Amino acid sequence: MAREIPTTMRAWYHESPGTPAEVLKFTTTFTTPRCSELASEDVLVKIAYCAITPGISMMMPLEPAWLHKMPAIPELEFSGTVVSLGSSVALARPDLALNAPVFGVTSMKIRGKQGFGTLAEYCPCPMQRLIGIPINMSLAEAAGLGGNGITALQALDLSNLGKGDKVLINGGSGGTGSMMIQCAKAIVGEEGCVVSTSSDVSFKMLKELGADKLIDYRRHDPLHTYLLQEHSESPFDVIVDTVGVQSLYSHCPGYLRENGRFINIGGMQVKSTIASLLAFFWSQLYNAHWPAFLGGTPRWFRMLSGTPDLNSLSRVKDLAEHRLLKSVIDSTWEMQDALKAYEKLASKRSKGKVLIRIED
Ligand SMILES: NC(=O)c1ccc[n+]([C@@H]2O[C@H](COP(=O)([O-])OP(=O)(O)OC[C@H]3O[C@@H](n4cnc5c(N)ncnc54)[C@H](OP(=O)(O)O)[C@@H]3O)[C@@H](O)[C@H]2O)c1
Repeated sequence: MAREIPTTMRAWYHESPGTPAEVLKFTTTFTTPRCSELASEDVLVKIAYCAITPGISMMMPLEPAWLHKMPAIPELEFSGTVVSLGSSVALARPDLALNAPVFGVTSMKIRGKQGFGTLAEYCPCPMQRLIGIPINMSLAEAAGLGGNGITALQALDLSNLGKGDKVLINGGSGGTGSMMIQCAKAIVGEEGCVVSTSSDVSFKMLKELGADKLIDYRRHDPLHTYLLQEHSESPFDVIVDTVGVQSLYSHCPGYLRENGRFINIGGMQVKSTIASLLAFFWSQLYNAHWPAFLGGTPRWFRMLSGTPDLNSLSRVKDLAEHRLLKSVIDSTWEMQDALKAYEKLASKRSKGKVLIRIED
């Protein structure tokens, strides 16, 4: 039976650009998305857990108010239960029954045009961007699977990583890295080798996730010098950087084989300024397209932006149900402590996902 949906809800929102600490405000009276206004392909979800992401915190100070419907609720990733369906959902997605527990990633379009995000009790989500939670997971465990799980899978698809390969994951202990290690190990198998960087406090966790060798990036700084010493004789087939360290790519011909692939998904060193963002995108274009004969690095490079779709979500769910992918949760915060959760995320020291509990 459909639950009654209140006309107002608890939410964190902002009315101007700024960091979460500067601009986020809490209310119990944000207008709930109306079922009657739900787009035909959207699903209204009662959010149980919101998984916060560094990309949103980085972009919030840069989004001009005129480009964005204000007030706006931040965040895209969630787990929760289905409370209402757009007119074409029932036929297209019979798995999305009312009250079904789901996880996914809502769209920037919904956030931009309607101002709804997942740091609130209710949020609309396009039906292609959510799926039932894995049978062996709780709502909390499923909350962070969507964004990072699909990014890990899509990055590894792009990398052509295969059985027996040797891969380096730079930044294995973060939300994305912890998924990447598990997906990479499932692909390379026992005969392959997953090497990851992290600080030494995370070594035990990363071994349990499937890493074969670990490098303490703080002890071996700069990392590329260490890799040149230790991995030039047996170079990597693939490097996936979840941090976004330019020197790791610039020096990679010394430790990435000639037809190997380098994929960057991270922008952890980008500052929340337009100049820093433009410099970052320029470096990514330069890496990908500047020819070697004009001074470019002679190795294949792509920057990947993960795109949530049903196929990727379904693969993530399948891996989780086969116990090849588990969720790593750094911490779970109550809704009123959301700003402390953002502080934790901003420390760049979280291990796995930072969650905010929305359900009562
Ligand atoms: N392209 C996409 O589609 C996509 C999707 C998701 C995320 N991202 C981006 O990817 C980046 C990572 O996201 P995330 O959610 O994984 O971040 P996160 O969870 O906040 O990452 C925190 C982790 O990063 C590690 N770390 C920090 N600096 C490091 C360094 N120099 N070398 C190695 N590890 C380092 C820390 O390890 P220790 O504590 O062990 O030191 C910590 O465990 C962000 O820039 C995010 O915006 C992109």
